Amino acid sequence: MEESEEKKGSNIVLALDSLPSRSEGLLSSSLKILEKTHPYICAVKLNRHLLLPLGLYDGIKRIVEKAHSLELPVIMDCKINDIGYTNQVIVENYFNAGFDAVTANPFVGWEDGLQPVFEVARKTNRGVILLVYMSHKAAWEGYGQMIYNSKTGEKKPQYVAFAEKALTWRADGVVVGGTYPEKIREVYAVLKGEVPIYSPGIGMQGGDIKAAVSSGARYLIIGRAITLAETPEKAARFFRDSVKL
Ligand code: XMP
Repeated sequence: MEESEEKKGSNIVLALDSLPSRSEGLLSSSLKILEKTHPYICAVKLNRHLLLPLGLYDGIKRIVEKAHSLELPVIMDCKINDIGYTNQVIVENYFNAGFDAVTANPFVGWEDGLQPVFEVARKTNRGVILLVYMSHKAAWEGYGQMIYNSKTGEKKPQYVAFAEKALTWRADGVVVGGTYPEKIREVYAVLKGEVPIYSPGIGMQGGDIKAAVSSGARYLIIGRAITLAETPEKAARFFRDSVKL
């Protein structure tokens, strides 16, 4: 990510959540958006928007290969969230299809949870990005709850505990919603720049790019504000440049 950020002069991660159009298939419309926006972004993020209709080893693999040919790393936003045995199969498939990193949910914990995911990632030189505080309105219900350690009597918000786990587990990134700059600041205070913060929620979900960056976000994940724009390349360039201003 750092190499790509430097080479492209951008810290915009394109969430390629394309929709099928009447005139064009989903695969070709997605490839077209990628072709237009690639000079202004440093990575691509895919999720089930494209995976479900296109299939992992058919359409998705072609998008991953296209992104790689444009020197862009690709993140699978799959929010891994199952038992270790299943998590391992999931992550192996995503890495076999060419993904460079996956997102995972720290709620499942380490042993027999995310440990196999990190082990596969370390062996194959890929990344794991942990959800620390999501961007949507109800994020407080889970990520924002106060947790209590009955042994020490210590209380802390769930997202602070997850940020600490990101350091202990040596995660390659964390996700904190760009809609909550104050949470980005708190998480940054825990991570101290050792683990980069990825912030989705800019634009369509109401997050402000400058507030997110000044609070400590390193990468901005942006979807609809680019993919649904009349000229996606102009939108991508606009966001890239707003970070620099
Ligand atoms: P929009 O269109 O709102 O898309 O710019 C945002 C993209 O990011 C994903 N997303 C998240 N992924 N944690 C994540 O790991 C989050 O809190 C989060 N919020 C949004 C969303 O699926 C879409 O691809």
